[in-house]
This record gives sequence, structure tokens and C-alpha cells, in this order.
Amino acid sequence: MVDRAARDFARVGVIGLGTMGAGIVEVVARTGLDVVAVEVDHAGTARGREALEHSTARAVERGKLTPDEAAAVHARVRYATSLDAVAGCGLVVEAVPEHLELKKDIFAALDRLVGPETVLATNTSSLSVTEIAVATANPRRVVGLHFFNPAPVLSFVEVIRTVVTDEGVVSDVVELARQLGKQPVVVGDKAGFIANALLFGYLNHAVSMYETRYASREDVDAAMRLGCGLPMGPLALMDLIGLDTAYEILDTMYRQGRDRLHAPSPLIKQMVSAGLRGRKTGRGFYTYAEPGSSAVVPDALTPSASVWGAGRCGR
Ligand SMILES: NC(=O)c1ccc[n+]([C@@H]2O[C@H](COP(=O)([O-])OP(=O)(O)OC[C@H]3O[C@@H](n4cnc5c(N)ncnc54)[C@H](O)[C@@H]3O)[C@@H](O)[C@H]2O)c1
Repeated sequence: MVDRAARDFARVGVIGLGTMGAGIVEVVARTGLDVVAVEVDHAGTARGREALEHSTARAVERGKLTPDEAAAVHARVRYATSLDAVAGCGLVVEAVPEHLELKKDIFAALDRLVGPETVLATNTSSLSVTEIAVATANPRRVVGLHFFNPAPVLSFVEVIRTVVTDEGVVSDVVELARQLGKQPVVVGDKAGFIANALLFGYLNHAVSMYETRYASREDVDAAMRLGCGLPMGPLALMDLIGLDTAYEILDTMYRQGRDRLHAPSPLIKQMVSAGLRGRKTGRGFYTYAEPGSSAVVPDALTPSASVWGAGRCGR
């Protein structure tokens, strides 16, 4: 049984500082809580620190943070390359790649490191929270805490309750999510939860339209931005999510539900194998100014003004 009176989220551990983890660190530190940010090596912590610096610098430029507040955010984050560093945390949020065995290993190790009152949360998009939870001796303290990308910007959060999660843990995590400025919803443990269950069939369909050369990447994205009013087209969104992560999510959803909508379009795996993982590597469906940049630069597939909008696919 988790000891509710002892639960204290003043210090939060974040494991993995990639696309999601770096954003989660920012959300937590900007709320005024201390963060222990863990990566596999010093290159990983340096990337995480750089992402936080870049994001807070932009917030300062836009007048959303003062320079002193930005400095305070950085002072709240301690970087580490060993899981042991999260021993004193009241909550640990795992955001490592979408691989079940890796997550189970990390939860089993965390379970031995942290105190009995610590809540363990996974940011998984599609894996079974229950399977991750049972890698620990106390699955009652394990929840899903699914942030959206970019975590500092999007306010929706899914809190995933398994059949064994302690109700007190769920309500405390919901309360924390509100404190972080998010709008949490509590859902059961089904692959894709609400948002990704709806989103990924659509993203996969967009890739297939492009893959079969029915439409160019620009035309697919323009259809959904300009025709349907979405802020971003599906192929640009795949680049933001990361093609490796998107592939793992689709594959898990397909294996769990056998809905062919989720059978990953072959092109996704080919691009991942070729290192075209999206913004994080500087190339995905589009080419970016540098790894991690959101600035799209022209490449060999960029249509010239004369063919723009003519429905030609350049791939
Ligand atoms: N990308 C998205 O849009 C998105 C949105 C919501 C949830 N998620 C989920 O969040 C999780 C992370 O996805 P991501 O896109 O941030 O992945 P990512 O590949 O961008 O980052 C993962 C990070 O984890 C680090 N890592 C790997 N093993 C580690 C270990 N043992 N200890 C510490 N760090 C380790 C890697 O070095 C990498 O920096 C996944 O479960 C994914 O499904 C992703």
C-alpha cells in the first residue's frame, strides 16, 4: 500500500531527455519544482540542457519569462547519468524510447532505488502500462502520465490507470498535472489511449498517400492545414513526433488491435533505417536547418514555384 501522507512531489525525476523528456523537465521546473534529469551519458545530458536553454531563451525573447525566472528554472534542474540520482524523488517520469523491455528494465531498477511512497510514471504512447507496472514489486504505485508534444505548449495530459493502480496515486497525479498547468483526463490502459488511438491511423494514411505518390508531401500537409484548419499537416507532424517513435507506436497499436489502419506504412521503417527520423536528426519527410531545428529548408523535393500546388509528387 502506498503511504499517501508521505507523498511529496517537490522533487521529480525525469528519465530520458529526448523530444519529450526535455519538454517535461521544462514544464516541471517552470512550475517551481526541483528536477533530477537523467540520460544515458554526458552527451545526452548536454543535449537535454541545450534543449532547455533554447526553449527558455525563446520564452524570454517572447516576454513569457524574465531572465531571472529563466535562471531560476535552470537552477532547479540537476543532470545525472545514473538512475541512482532519482532516489530522493517523490515522482519519477520515464520518457525513454518506446521499447517495452527497456521500460520494464528501468521500472524494475527504479522500484529498488526509490522509497515506497514514490510514484512511478511512464510517458509511453502505446505500450501497456500494466506490463510495465508488473516489472515492479509494487504495481499499485505505477501510472501512465502521457504528455503531448511539445510538452511545454500543449495542455492535454492523459493519466493512465491500470486495473491495479492505487486510486490515491491516480488522484495525486491528476492534482499534480493541474499544478503543472495541464488539463488531465483519466483513461484505462488501452494502446494509444484517446488521442493517439484517433491520431495514428490518420498519420499512417497520410504517409501511405505520399508513399504511393498520390500526392506530394506539401500537398498532403496543405490539405489538412488549409483545407481542414489543423495547425500542422500530418507529415510535418510525423517529423515533429520522430519517425522512430511513430513507427513503434503504430507497430504496438497494430499488434494489439490488428486494425490494418495501424499497420505501419513500409516507408516509415525505411526512413528510420536510413536515419531520417524527423526534426531530431534534421531530416524526415522534410529537411531542417539542423538537428532539433523547426526551420524547414529547401531540398531536392521542394517544388519550384511553377509546380507548387499542381499536385505533383517530387519523391
Ligand atoms: N515524440 C512524441 O511526440 C511523443 C509524444 C508523447 C509521448 N511520447 C513517448 O515518450 C517516450 C519518449 O519518446 P521521445 O520521442 O522523447 O524519444 P526520443 O528518442 O526523442 O528520446 C528518448 C531519450 O531517452 C534516452 N534514453 C534511452 N535509454 C535511456 C536510459 N536507459 N536512461 C536514460 N535515458 C535513456 C535517449 O538517449 C533519448 O535521448 C516514448 O515512450 C514515446 O512513445 C512521445
